[in-house]
Amino acid sequence: MSSNSVIEVQNLSKVYDIEGKSKDLRYAISKFFSSKNKETEKLLALNNISFNVNEGEVFGIIGPNGSGKSTLLKILSKITFPTSGKAILNGRVSSLLEVGTGFHHELSGRENIFLNGSILGMSKKEIKKKFDEIVDFSGIEKFIDTPVKHYSSGMYVRLAFSVAAHLEPEILLVDEVLSVGDMNFRRKSMGKMNEVANSGRTVILVSHNLGIIKNLCQNGIYLDRGEIQSSGIIQKVVEDYQNSYKPYQNKTLPNISKHIDVSKIDILSITNNGSKILSTGDEIMIKIKFKSLVKLRNLLVKIIVRDNNKQVLFSCNNKFYDAIFESVPDEGIITCQIPKLALNTGEYSIDLFLEQDRIEIFKVFEIMRFEVFAGGFYETAIMPYHDRIFLVDHVWKIE
Ligand SMILES: Nc1ncnc2c1ncn2[C@@H]1O[C@H](COP(=O)(O)OP(=O)(O)OP(=O)(O)O)[C@@H](O)[C@H]1O
Ligand SMILES: [Mg+2]
Repeated sequence: MSSNSVIEVQNLSKVYDIEGKSKDLRYAISKFFSSKNKETEKLLALNNISFNVNEGEVFGIIGPNGSGKSTLLKILSKITFPTSGKAILNGRVSSLLEVGTGFHHELSGRENIFLNGSILGMSKKEIKKKFDEIVDFSGIEKFIDTPVKHYSSGMYVRLAFSVAAHLEPEILLVDEVLSVGDMNFRRKSMGKMNEVANSGRTVILVSHNLGIIKNLCQNGIYLDRGEIQSSGIIQKVVEDYQNSYKPYQNKTLPNISKHIDVSKIDILSITNNGSKILSTGDEIMIKIKFKSLVKLRNLLVKIIVRDNNKQVLFSCNNKFYDAIFESVPDEGIITCQIPKLALNTGEYSIDLFLEQDRIEIFKVFEIMRFEVFAGGFYETAIMPYHDRIFLVDHVWKIE
């Protein structure tokens, strides 16, 4: 291991068998009676990955869905094992992978704190010293003696993060939890991770949120289909990811209108600091750059969003808000802001229609395609199956 590297990953590969995915009874029975052995499909989730992480570094792992980020963290935290290659970790590891990994459902918050501490090799006395700080940070003191199975997912994540970050691990592995919880808690958590790193301990952080990654990390890797595409200084790695990744395409915009020239359409994630990578739950903005070819007034703008099968899903229209643009500059940008993108992962397209005084002056079907990635629509960041196109906020109760 080189002088100050705490984590050394050497030629790591992971192959998943995906035959076992379907576990229903019918499948099991038909498999039992089938004379032929079903071919097992192999999925190469990680392909010959090597990198080092130095002590006290916050190291970022980015890449599209399914690129192998979580698999890598699971190997580092020994939840799963590599097919070949190895990962050497020099220090006590605490990980926050899925909501509440490492928590025992029947035990209370208090008991789980002590359990986690002792797994990390801390004495009772050491844990006691940290206890108040953990509870205070998590903000759930009222429920500390309630079994964690009764916690809301938000409470769960708060406590889990607080435990993982405060129990003095030498290496902290965090998968995507910062997309969870309210803004205040996220900010607090980012501060805490910085503090952990500044005290000489090492953090590996996986996130789709490139703003957070750039803020917190010094170095990192960009994975795609299980391979490292770029590694090193984080600014460069994020740039490489953004440049190589084409989240959507613009049609060559046809010059079809005598009234208006639309030169560019962009869809950006405000949540993700203006990135073109859109995730479910993000605040997004559609930007339409135009030039008026004649003096325009009373401009109606209609956007229709369709799925891959061209089925219309919804429309946005400034008429809905009684906000038809009475006056229109010679050139400018029309923006449409959607506070919480409620589409599941998948590919979609946009049609754009413009009307002046109820007369159509511009109409292009599928003027742009875009892709939506998994994100934090729900606090848990859990995603429904992708055939459920819309996500809606809802509230559960039993009385
Ligand atoms: N237990 C498993 N069995 C079979 N295949 C798996 C298993 N876990 C992950 N995979 C597959 O391995 C690949 C990498 O998955 P992984 O979860 O590591 O990606 P990720 O980069 O974390 O994605 P995301 O950004 O969506 O969280 C994917 O194709 C996934 O379907
Ligand atoms: Mg993942």
